[in-house]
Amino acid sequence: MAASPEFHDRMLSLGLARVSEAAAIACAAHIGRGDEKAADQAAVNAMRDQLNKLDIRGVVVIGEGERDEAPMLYIGEEVGTGQGPAVDIALDPLEGTTLTARDMPNALAVIAMGPRGTLLHAPDVYMDKLAIGPGFKPGTVTLAMTPAERVSALAAAKGVSTRDITVCVLDRPRHAEMIAELRSTQCAIRLITDGDVAGVMHCAEPQKTGIDMYMGSGGAPEGVLAAAALKCMGGQIFGKLLFRDEAERERARKAGITNLDRVYTRDDMVTGDVIFSATGVTDGSLLPGIRREPGWVTVETMLMRSKTGSVRRMTYRNPVR
Ligand code: FBP
Repeated sequence: MAASPEFHDRMLSLGLARVSEAAAIACAAHIGRGDEKAADQAAVNAMRDQLNKLDIRGVVVIGEGERDEAPMLYIGEEVGTGQGPAVDIALDPLEGTTLTARDMPNALAVIAMGPRGTLLHAPDVYMDKLAIGPGFKPGTVTLAMTPAERVSALAAAKGVSTRDITVCVLDRPRHAEMIAELRSTQCAIRLITDGDVAGVMHCAEPQKTGIDMYMGSGGAPEGVLAAAALKCMGGQIFGKLLFRDEAERERARKAGITNLDRVYTRDDMVTGDVIFSATGVTDGSLLPGIRREPGWVTVETMLMRSKTGSVRRMTYRNPVR
């Protein structure tokens, strides 16, 4: 077999931006309309159409679900023209379906791409996550620490009081104990209803977002997407898969995972160069949402490459057809 053409991340990245832009734009008509499924379907269709225009031999490793439950962009689906480098793709055409349906902040269309074999095939189970931004020594915070210890350790590393730390957490009953412990440190907590890819990304730009640390459990696939984003933006993320029953453990084994207790670092989840594109759907602290004016639709995208650490913000305006 001929060797795979190289992963030219510089050239591929612009194509990737088009993919997340298309998915976001397809959601425009669904923002605030109360129909999560319709919004998600529109994003999936548009993302798949654009992805299939790229000259890649792509395989979806993080997608819309297993083949029997997701007809499009399922795990294992081959995408692209079939010409070009062999790549792994992690995607979430609409990260925050409920946020979109209810017109709440921080819904994004996201996609990451790396050379074949470099993205963790995370099963659709929960993951315990912990993330901080760039500029801290490895091990500043760890999953082994209690939530309160993490806040103290980060405050010490920043040279500030625990009162000056803001932690982002998904507002879920399963996090009640963790939230109570965090409260005892007097840190601030930003509770979000959904969208932990954005939650983790917020840690990489604390001056802009006000968030220093992310913690708690959320989807494992979203953990890999967040790791790809932080690999480009800088920052640390740790993730440990959580299993509620034997069926979930089996799902992990099927995905090729042998050590079910492993704590994954950012670079364990994304082992090579990666490119990442996120387009805002609803307004958020990182990206503005879709703007509509008569005849036009405008979106903003963050396009990033881990090789260079470059973060490009691009505004795209297109006539409404
Ligand atoms: P959707 O985009 O599928 O709506 O998921 C959003 C999300 O909030 C993720 O960001 C997060 O990882 C996960 O759901 C949390 O799961 P749960 O709602 O079960 O706590």
